[in-house]
Amino acid sequence: MDYGTGSKMHKHLIFNPILFNKNIKRIIMANLSTVTSSPESWNETQADLIAVGVFEDKSLTPMANTINEASNFSFTEAIDLGDVKGKSGESHFFYVDGKRILLLGLGNKNKFDANAVRLAAGKVSRTAISKKLDSVAMECFCNNCEHCQSCGEGLVLGSYQFLDYKTGRDDGFVLKSAKVLRCDSPDIAKGAAIGNAVCFARDLGNHPGNISTPTRLAEAAKEIADEGGMKLTIFDREEFTEMGMGALAGVALGTDEPPKFIILEYMNGGDEKPKVLVGKGLTFDAGGISIKPAGKMDEMKYDMCGSATVLGTMKAIAALKPKINVVCIVPSTENLLGGKAFKPGDILTALNGKTIEILNTDAEGRLILADGLSYASKHYDPEFILDFATLTGAVLVTLGHVAAGVMGTDESLMEKVKISSKNSGEKVWELPLWPEFCKQIKSDIADVKNMGTPGQAGSIAAAAFLKEFVKKDIPWIHFDIAGTAWGGKTTSLDPKGSATGWGIRLVLDMFDV
Ligand code: BES
Ligand code: MN
Ligand code: ZN
Repeated sequence: MDYGTGSKMHKHLIFNPILFNKNIKRIIMANLSTVTSSPESWNETQADLIAVGVFEDKSLTPMANTINEASNFSFTEAIDLGDVKGKSGESHFFYVDGKRILLLGLGNKNKFDANAVRLAAGKVSRTAISKKLDSVAMECFCNNCEHCQSCGEGLVLGSYQFLDYKTGRDDGFVLKSAKVLRCDSPDIAKGAAIGNAVCFARDLGNHPGNISTPTRLAEAAKEIADEGGMKLTIFDREEFTEMGMGALAGVALGTDEPPKFIILEYMNGGDEKPKVLVGKGLTFDAGGISIKPAGKMDEMKYDMCGSATVLGTMKAIAALKPKINVVCIVPSTENLLGGKAFKPGDILTALNGKTIEILNTDAEGRLILADGLSYASKHYDPEFILDFATLTGAVLVTLGHVAAGVMGTDESLMEKVKISSKNSGEKVWELPLWPEFCKQIKSDIADVKNMGTPGQAGSIAAAAFLKEFVKKDIPWIHFDIAGTAWGGKTTSLDPKGSATGWGIRLVLDMFDV
């Protein structure tokens, strides 16, 4: 089953048929992958559902106004009776001239930004799915199409469902098409491509550990490489062990599932320095010999969501082909308890030569990232490195499911992260990477140890550890997405019990894609 070395062509990648029942392989996409824009108005479109809006101050969007007049002021009546309040998240059905109209609450007019547009668009798709309607059309209700990218994103994200393992006939209804009316902005299609990339990442995260294996991640990278004209390099266990990636190799000792070190290179930006993304691709984290408690251990199938974020970003780049250079690195393995598994007390040597004393085999994410970051530092001259990882339970304690913890070595890069966080609506909060914390991961007998002071500042200790593997002078930011990658509040954009694909929109904004 193993394939591929270096930059050589690798053998055909296929699922292990024993692990993956072909009958449940996806036949149709469970999310919209495109959204069109159309000059039509509400009375011309054939869509099954037509969405227009009303704000909290009871003012109607332009198309809502037209429909209100055509319907003998039925919206005004509903507003006067107090049924329509215009609050965000609210929606009401009306039937006018044989058309099914959805009047959406859009909230405060002065706060109607890209994020509000995205949420409203998500609501359109979700409503259509719940009513089993095939096609939707929504008014472009932003001024001069300034938020049309969000319309495309929201319609696709709201259409996402994870149905691959539901085998019953009536288990799933899939939305077939969406368009934005009275609009010709190219940002609609762009937003849809980004939404589709986020759905791609969600799928990688939602598939269980026996399907979303390191081999499957390599296969996903192959699909992206083919679509985007990227160079794909995959190192298998023997190769990366030989190369000196002792930290990844150490974690991978406990599993028979073939681990992979995956590199995608997208070079379309001339001689500019590449931006490097590194994602934790831990496809199942049992904790290793320092085994996790059984409760919720199933959720550790999501421990590859960092890799889903960076692969999803590359998926969007493959579709949109911006003029930039980006390298994406995914160290990928399971963390199990096989007879050869690494143990507490063991000492591993990472690719940059640093020795690591293992105090807890469950702090494995930072180990595989150590080799990813070392590889990025050694083989490229990056403009900067961003890494994404479901790294610590502590970040969930600190920030809940609301924001990712960010830490790094470069203030101006951190500023850019914060700006893109605002633009994308993907919240981050900076934690301090002070020298006091960096001291906590020094070992008595090796260069570093793989955890800090037990019970204290766990997310920062993890970042302090990672910093040891990033070459000095390379600006670097670490995103701890253990709280945001899954398990948050259900919204029109994020369905219940699903990976979120968190961070893709933030990174694309940073890259000016
Ligand atoms: N993948 C986990 C982090 C995690 C835990 C994410 C719970 C989401 C929910 C990571 O590999 C891990 O186990 N980290 C340990 C580190 C500790 C042993 C220093 C943790 O956070 O408990
Ligand atoms: Mn772990
Ligand atoms: Zn983990």
